[in-house]
Amino acid sequence: MNAMTKTKGVKTLPLNTILDGDCIEMMNSLPEESVDLIFADPPYNLQLKGELHRPDNSRVDAVDDHWDQFASFAAYDQFTREWLAAARRVLKPNGAIWVIGSYHNIFRVGAALQDAGYWILNDVVWRKSNPMPNFRGKRFTNAHETMIWASKSEAAKYTFNYEALKALNEGIQMRSDWVLPICNGGERLKDANGDKAHPTQKPMSLLHRVLVGSTNPGDVVLDPFFGTGTTGAVAKMLGRDWIGIEREAAYREVATRRIADIRAFDRSALEVTRAKRAEPRIPFGQLVERGMLRPGEMLVSPSGKVAKVRADGTLVGDDVKGSIHQVGAHLEGAPSCNGWTYWHFRKDGKHVPIDVLRQQIRAEMAARPH
Ligand SMILES: C[S@@+](CC[C@H](N)C(=O)[O-])C[C@H]1O[C@@H](n2cnc3c(N)ncnc32)[C@H](O)[C@@H]1O
Repeated sequence: MNAMTKTKGVKTLPLNTILDGDCIEMMNSLPEESVDLIFADPPYNLQLKGELHRPDNSRVDAVDDHWDQFASFAAYDQFTREWLAAARRVLKPNGAIWVIGSYHNIFRVGAALQDAGYWILNDVVWRKSNPMPNFRGKRFTNAHETMIWASKSEAAKYTFNYEALKALNEGIQMRSDWVLPICNGGERLKDANGDKAHPTQKPMSLLHRVLVGSTNPGDVVLDPFFGTGTTGAVAKMLGRDWIGIEREAAYREVATRRIADIRAFDRSALEVTRAKRAEPRIPFGQLVERGMLRPGEMLVSPSGKVAKVRADGTLVGDDVKGSIHQVGAHLEGAPSCNGWTYWHFRKDGKHVPIDVLRQQIRAEMAARPH
């Protein structure tokens, strides 16, 4: 596999490689603070007792593999705490982690994450549009998995491409419930006998959303429970570097072949919609200081409300004074108001939003040599 390296201190980072071994040992061998994002799909600890059959008596291909077996909840918790500590060590200070799980393990993982010092940002419910039915009819159809998204610490400035996710969702804010199909059809990897190559292969669509939303091109993404390498495959497509860790040789082989066949998207297509927040902040007072608006000048709203500009960059209306946003919200009886688009000034006989003046300042700043 194409193993480029990025150096931090004396140790090098084995980029775009699958490491063979136990994830705790392997993570401890990596340089600390070297990874931007971790996506982890750990053993679920399903505690299956006996085989599961469909009504026609055919056997359900459930997760009964040895890597999913733990002697007790205490043994599972100890393993969880150890791998979460190793993961936290390799995360950069502004890094973040996603952990996916089911009701069998996710609550134990959530508590361990908080105890380890991570800061939970959201739990995202992946609602399966085509779940496996409940064959015994004794419980609800288990139609979702839960992902916990947490930053390394409360203070971390984690990556969140809010505007890109909104664009993915046709202009509507992305919610914490994602409806996506389970991995089926051509995407499902098969072994030589035509059976599933891995019992818990995750859909690429899920990783696409995770990586577009919480990483940038060139970031390093680590998956300590690599399986068939879904994280590596999507990271390669999206121009992110990746590191996988997997103990089972058969899965490493499947993942290696799979990722070799992936073509990265054109780099020019990887740029995503940037957050408006990334634009320089311009206080309204600057418009007054620069003479773009005069103290005493009247601003008007689309609904005909008026307020006067004051020398300190505040507005005064009938029975209210404050920022452009506060005065707008008060006059409209609304909880909040974007004063930049609400207030208009007169220019050449027309009403123009004051945001035009802010854009003018931003354009001047962008044109200035850095
Ligand atoms: C739930 S599966 C991950 C599936 C993967 N997300 C995919 O899309 O194919 C968990 C994987 O972790 C591996 N594994 C379990 N314990 C491990 C450990 N301590 N170190 C490294 N790999 C481990 C298992 O062999 C299994 O392939």
